[in-house]
Amino acid sequence: MKPWSGIIAAYRDRLPLSDDAPSITLLEGNTPLIPSVALHETLPGNLDIFFKYEGLNPTGSFKDRGMVVAFARALARKAGICLCASTGNTAASAAAYAARSGLRCIVLLPEGSIARGKLAQAAMHGARIVSIAGPFDNAMRMAQELVLERPEIELVNSVNPFRIEGQKTAAFEVSDVLGDAPDFHFLPVGNAGNITAYWKGYREYAQAGKISRLPRMVGFEAAGAAPIVEGRIISNPQTVASAIRIGNPASWKGAVCAASESGGWIGSVTDEAILDAYQFLARREGIFVEPASAAGVAGLRQEVARGRIPPGSRVVITLTGHGLKDPDISTQVAAPQPISIAPVLAELQRAVEE
Ligand code: F0G
Repeated sequence: MKPWSGIIAAYRDRLPLSDDAPSITLLEGNTPLIPSVALHETLPGNLDIFFKYEGLNPTGSFKDRGMVVAFARALARKAGICLCASTGNTAASAAAYAARSGLRCIVLLPEGSIARGKLAQAAMHGARIVSIAGPFDNAMRMAQELVLERPEIELVNSVNPFRIEGQKTAAFEVSDVLGDAPDFHFLPVGNAGNITAYWKGYREYAQAGKISRLPRMVGFEAAGAAPIVEGRIISNPQTVASAIRIGNPASWKGAVCAASESGGWIGSVTDEAILDAYQFLARREGIFVEPASAAGVAGLRQEVARGRIPPGSRVVITLTGHGLKDPDISTQVAAPQPISIAPVLAELQRAVEE
């Protein structure tokens, strides 16, 4: 078997990169498609459920797929600085690939609402961190305004088409492993780049004859940050899932197209349902994700309860980011309560019995 060498090497013929774009990589992609045990058992309808666990990318989220392609493009056009607005994961990923490529990296973050692990990543990789008052949407708007005046700066948000190109490779991987597209693809929606990217990937694979059908794309916003579901910009989005705390998604149209063209839909799930799915994944499936990543699982439970998923359907759910990203939420829902003992066997035996 050929060793994995990253998504540019694996899918270069399906990416719009010029010949002079370097094949950079942190060996992103090739993430596992894990069959569900507990969700399968606890939901009715004998569903065939798989988790695309994107938390196992090099910086712990799906962003690496898009970032590596955006950086290959930035290097080809000799950009010296990259910029992004982020709820955290994009910043962590951009900072890592900037470090790898020798570019300067500036990240614009909504003040006070970035999960601690993500902030640590951006700082460790040497990004300049700029904190902006208000929600993510303010930071996104300012990033777009700045690059209009400073075109030499590479904007590496998913409004950059190369990001979408990289992220579409996850749909290729799912299809390659399953031998065809699933019936449904569930995932969280924030800035709406990822659902746009998956849909592009599935369509391209179908056009190339690699799959015989297309999945229905089903995306989930958090109920307190659900602009697409409500059909209006949310000026003060609120959710425990900080990664998707977004009131005016940049790829709004892309998400709506993915849902409507595929026969899917965009729904919303409450924070309570997100946190319940978050704990279920950790406790029952053995998979630690960050809260936003559990939105797809919360969504599947909700849509099954509403009778919208035919029995026997094959469902893929993308788990977008690793649980270690957000230690504050995890310790709130499951506070570690170690039992302190002396180094004496009798005490250990008592602790084991309790
Ligand atoms: N899940 C996680 C863990 C994310 O970090 C994001 C987005 C999403 C889901 C939603 O994906 O934006 O493509 O619809 N995070 C962005 C960021 C906004 O800045 O890291 P989307």
